Amino acid sequence: MRIKTTAATVGLLTILMGSTAYAADKLTYYCSAQEDWCQLMANGFQDATGIKVNMTRKSSGETFAQVKAEGSNPKGDVWWGGTGDPHLQAAEEGLTEAYVTPMRGELQDWALSQAKSAGDRTIGIYSGALGYGYNTELLAKNNLPEPSCWKDLLKAEYKGHVQMANPNSSGTAYTTLATIVQLFGEDEGFEFMKGLHKNINQYTKSGSAPIKAAARGESTIGIVFMHDAVKQAAAGFPIKVVAPCEGTGYEIGSMSIIKGARNAESAQKFYDWALSADAQALALKVNAFQVPSNKSAPTSDKAPDLASIKLIDYDFAKYGSSDERKRLLKKWDDEVSTLPQ
Ligand code: F6P
Repeated sequence: MRIKTTAATVGLLTILMGSTAYAADKLTYYCSAQEDWCQLMANGFQDATGIKVNMTRKSSGETFAQVKAEGSNPKGDVWWGGTGDPHLQAAEEGLTEAYVTPMRGELQDWALSQAKSAGDRTIGIYSGALGYGYNTELLAKNNLPEPSCWKDLLKAEYKGHVQMANPNSSGTAYTTLATIVQLFGEDEGFEFMKGLHKNINQYTKSGSAPIKAAARGESTIGIVFMHDAVKQAAAGFPIKVVAPCEGTGYEIGSMSIIKGARNAESAQKFYDWALSADAQALALKVNAFQVPSNKSAPTSDKAPDLASIKLIDYDFAKYGSSDERKRLLKKWDDEVSTLPQ
């Protein structure tokens, strides 16, 4: 059949072609790593591809909640960064899309095992160990002993001196809760969280906020990923970084494509690009001291050396599962956060 070209069909074709081109040329990017790194990744991708990036930065648990709330009408295309547990939960709940990247051969085993346990609905982009940091000047000023273990943080003299994030909004704080439960067992772990609660001056929304407060001298001790504490020390603040003596958990920072992404092609391009050694090397420009998942990407010599830290065998499959994450958070809400201080 021969299509008769009229002004109307030309107009229609232009609109259709125009909308296809438009769809391939933008990306709605949800980011759950530190703001400066999120921004640099957005700009780096935009410069590399010409694809216009619209970024929103929120903590891991908050982004999970947003992706879930938008599930029937997805607005985001790709979710980069944040702890792996909520990415695994999103995969299990069918909120993210399976994608097998051609970059797999360049990645560390831990990045691939994250993908494997989620049927390729997520993948590891960096890793880092949990710990805490403290302001050495404030500690000395308040005549406080130097803490070196998790259990030290329960001492009565630290009352009002410890800050951590809320595990509902923050992946860092959820990793803390899951780490304590894995280290000490559930009953003792919750007793620990209740004891810690007495010393907490504030539960922040974002995971790295407690160490920024310590750096500014507003709080003494911040429970955070060690790389976030190193970043403050590297910026010249009097922060000492601690790998707790009992051992500690860690994160596999992850990335996922959102199911029903309107700009699916751009999302896949971002995904592949973000796994490249060049894109991961951008981390060093913003003092992001996580360990990269691309084997050829450089790791800063200031990054905490995971091989020399006593790491637990963090059970990502269990603590990233929907039922377990919901159960632990509810238990923390009901039994810990409501206690008087
Ligand atoms: O600040 C960087 C970082 O610690 C990442 O390593 C981690 O994935 C993310 O923040 C977690 O942030 P939040 O605890 O706010 O979810």
